[in-house]
Amino acid sequence: MIRIVILGAGNVAKHLYTAFCNHKSVTVVQCYNRKGVRLVPDQKEDNIIQDINNLTEADIYILAISDNAIEEVSGLLPFNNRLIVHTSGSAPIDVINSRNKKGVFYPLQSFSKDKIIDFNTVPFCIEAQDDRDLEILKKLASVLSKKIYDISSEQRNVLHVSAVFVNNFTNHLFSIGNDICNEHKIPFEILYPLIEETAKKITTINPDLAQTGPAIRNDSKTIKRHLKTLNNTSQKEIYKTLTEAIQSKYGKKL
Ligand SMILES: NC(=O)c1ccc[n+]([C@@H]2O[C@H](COP(=O)([O-])OP(=O)(O)OC[C@H]3O[C@@H](n4cnc5c(N)ncnc54)[C@H](OP(=O)(O)O)[C@@H]3O)[C@@H](O)[C@H]2O)c1
Repeated sequence: MIRIVILGAGNVAKHLYTAFCNHKSVTVVQCYNRKGVRLVPDQKEDNIIQDINNLTEADIYILAISDNAIEEVSGLLPFNNRLIVHTSGSAPIDVINSRNKKGVFYPLQSFSKDKIIDFNTVPFCIEAQDDRDLEILKKLASVLSKKIYDISSEQRNVLHVSAVFVNNFTNHLFSIGNDICNEHKIPFEILYPLIEETAKKITTINPDLAQTGPAIRNDSKTIKRHLKTLNNTSQKEIYKTLTEAIQSKYGKKL
């Protein structure tokens, strides 16, 4: 039985809480957040605390809090030599206060409030300062997922930059596509099969080989027509920047 405390009440804290509550080999002995809110509507109030000085004993303390708060909150913990992990994609392990043992328990997925996550497919990037802590973190992650990776702080930072490109920026492009469709009264759902195929394809062929479209074809007439169609300055700039990036990668001029 692994006893954990979850600190924070945001997206990651809520998803981890829900996921761990479904497993008998892990007990969430306590949840701390500064507003004293429930992580899920039916959570019993007696294991939620608002005062960090009332933290109980546990095997692992999971700081599922904003990156900026990890250093400060880890410095407020009222004990020493226990295992404290954060869940950040980019904060180094060393940001955790040195009075306790440090680790990272980073679930590499995008968590939103109302979207259920199947943790079976979520890669966990684990880091610790010694083998014993690494093992217990792996054991904890293996309760939720089969995809567990030893990733250093340096590697995780790079992975996170890559994740920003493939997830956050891509989602912004989906949002632009949605806006353009709405503006012209076309249902965005017509594009769903294309979106799905784009994401699926790069799991079987290298993204460099999957690139299609007017930029790689150097189809200047289409590019000019598209730029004329766009009314929004920011959309035009993004279109130009990405077109130039594709053409420079494949050796063609706009
Ligand atoms: N969302 C994702 O997709 C995702 C994925 C993987 C990893 N992560 C990482 O997981 C961590 C949490 O992310 P999140 O998305 O769950 O964030 P979030 O939804 O914005 O929640 C942040 C939590 O941190 C708490 N917090 C902030 N400053 C605090 C302080 N000084 N003292 C105590 N609590 C404080 C907030 O409490 P209040 O409500 O009181 O402000 C809130 O409960 C971050 O390190 C993030 O990088 C996020």
